[in-house]
Amino acid sequence: MQHEYSYSKLLEIEKLVENPSFYICDTAVLHRNFLRFKNTIQSTYPNLGIGYSFKTNYLPYYCKMVNQWGGLAEVVSPMEYELALKLKISPKEIIYNGPIKSKDTIFYALTNDSYLNIDSLEELQIIQDFANTYPNKKIKIGLRCNFLLPNEKISRFGIDIGDESFKQALDTINEIRNCTLSGLHFHYSSQERSIESYKFRLTKLLEISKNLIPNFEPEYLDIGGGFFGDMSEELKSLFPYEVPTIEDYSTAIANQMNGFFPTHKTKLIIEPGVALVANTMTFFAKVNNIKCINGKYFASCNASFQTIKPSGNLKNLPIKIFLSDSTKKYYENLDFVGYTCLEYDRFYTNYCGFLNNKSFIAFENMGSYNIVFKPPFIEPSPPIITFEQGGIAILRRKETTEDIFNSFIF
Ligand SMILES: Cc1ncc(COP(=O)(O)O)c(C=O)c1O
Repeated sequence: MQHEYSYSKLLEIEKLVENPSFYICDTAVLHRNFLRFKNTIQSTYPNLGIGYSFKTNYLPYYCKMVNQWGGLAEVVSPMEYELALKLKISPKEIIYNGPIKSKDTIFYALTNDSYLNIDSLEELQIIQDFANTYPNKKIKIGLRCNFLLPNEKISRFGIDIGDESFKQALDTINEIRNCTLSGLHFHYSSQERSIESYKFRLTKLLEISKNLIPNFEPEYLDIGGGFFGDMSEELKSLFPYEVPTIEDYSTAIANQMNGFFPTHKTKLIIEPGVALVANTMTFFAKVNNIKCINGKYFASCNASFQTIKPSGNLKNLPIKIFLSDSTKKYYENLDFVGYTCLEYDRFYTNYCGFLNNKSFIAFENMGSYNIVFKPPFIEPSPPIITFEQGGIAILRRKETTEDIFNSFIF
């Protein structure tokens, strides 16, 4: 946690946002993460694009900010593409990925020169359609490549480089007179997220561009995201693998690109999500009541696994407790439980320590996927705030019942 909080400060925020639980963002941390990738890579390989993965946390405030720092918008659906446009991000600064793009957004992306990475042969038919409709428009596209990473499962994305469909894709692109292949894309979120895996990915992309595609000089190689972000030692200890730093990844990737392309003509694109945003948000949940059932203590909170562990991860994450007053009591093996009706909504089990009713519990590293994975199950989403020039800015107000039911026909 970057800021120091006190119980009275948290009460003040609760009053302001009119909700007993809330997320707090630290945009200085986001900027630092961004600069760490940028500065480390560019010190060796200047031709770099950093695409912020919107899906990881599409808080408009973040998306806009990264763009102002020179980042690209990495989007994977018509909804995300529309969000980027709504934020007034230039289409030229949008990377359009994803398995189900609409024809309309593909046409818009091609007309306005977005980076467009094709995921299937069916998408190529839409490209063909566009090229026939606008024969004077020169278009460029990228191909999302699919290959197996050592010790990983088969990915369902992109076009298999070992399959006939890859050759078919290349032939189709060649046949379209006003279309050129400009880049290759690969993304896979592996468990281990190792440096070796990224070296393998880049080597493979280079091999494809040299050996599988005749006379191809890639304008860009996009190796996607999937990097670990910064973590406290306590959080790191929950992972059974070595957790590389942003500098470790950046140095390895930049050195390799520099070896492949000493003139730096080919642009390197990365698409970090987790590594940029995970450690930028802290979630505060308030204890609503504490009860004892059959000798076991439960603290019910204005929170749930949906707001803390939407991925279903069952590990106890590091927490910090802010006690409400001096009448604290020591508890042995207490479970913090959520507002849902699900028995398994126990987001921290066997807590041993002091607690009292109305305490706040803080969970760090809540910036990636928490906001976007929250379903409207039982409760609307909590508000999000940040500190700006000494004051508090509300980035998302408390979601209301009306927000949830607005699209239903009554
Ligand atoms: C194409 C693509 N790029 C980037 C990302 C970001 O991955 P992460 O948030 O793990 O960095 C994803 C996540 O699924 C993705 O699908």
